[in-house]
Amino acid sequence: MRLHMMTWLEVERHLGRETGIIIPIGSTEQHGPIGLIGTDAICPEVIADLAADERGHLVGPTISVGMAQHHLAFPGSVALRPTTLIAVICDYVNSLARNGFDRFYFLNGHGGNIATIGAAFSQIHAERSFARGTNQPPVRCKLANWFGFPEVREVATELYADRDGRHATASEVAVTQYACPDFIKQAPMDPAPPAPRAFQDAEDYRALFPDGRIEADSFLARPEHGERLARVSAACVAADFAAFLDQD
Ligand code: NI
Repeated sequence: MRLHMMTWLEVERHLGRETGIIIPIGSTEQHGPIGLIGTDAICPEVIADLAADERGHLVGPTISVGMAQHHLAFPGSVALRPTTLIAVICDYVNSLARNGFDRFYFLNGHGGNIATIGAAFSQIHAERSFARGTNQPPVRCKLANWFGFPEVREVATELYADRDGRHATASEVAVTQYACPDFIKQAPMDPAPPAPRAFQDAEDYRALFPDGRIEADSFLARPEHGERLARVSAACVAADFAAFLDQD
């Protein structure tokens, strides 16, 4: 159930039985010749919906712009500074916590966000630790990457072996093809070569990876693969979120 589609009265009622929320978090950045700019936000969003709908969990508004400075040499990419994303995550959590939410499950679609999401959690806990004695309710935050569950990796390996890659992966492109069948793109593409070295800034990235992909054969993606990956990931998210709600 999307928070956007509820009234405040429904949210208040929901809080009477469950105080956790899943928040999809992604990025807005180039994903190679056939990957959608919104790939990293679309994937966790569709998987969060699948995981939540069966059990009546809540899905909060997607944070769809993240850590993408290294993609800025490609048109359409939008990046936040790490400090901006930390502030956004803190404000989401503090706004929702004010009225009773206390478990925040961030379902992430972008590897580049991981360090900054961790820093945001540290900031949230630091603010509460410093404010001890002011009756701020405790909150718990958790990060999960939709692509990181062993069950999802297993399916990706079965489908693509070692050609899934590191950016504009066949898996993530497949999930968007399943989620957005009207926006499946085609473009000529060779198999991606091995990455020569780690990238630095946006210009360096584009020089190293001219079509935007890193070691990823995105052209192997199919919508039916995406459905399978999304459903396997959603089952993992549903179990992980339930355990998160139950924990102390
Ligand atoms: Ni991505």
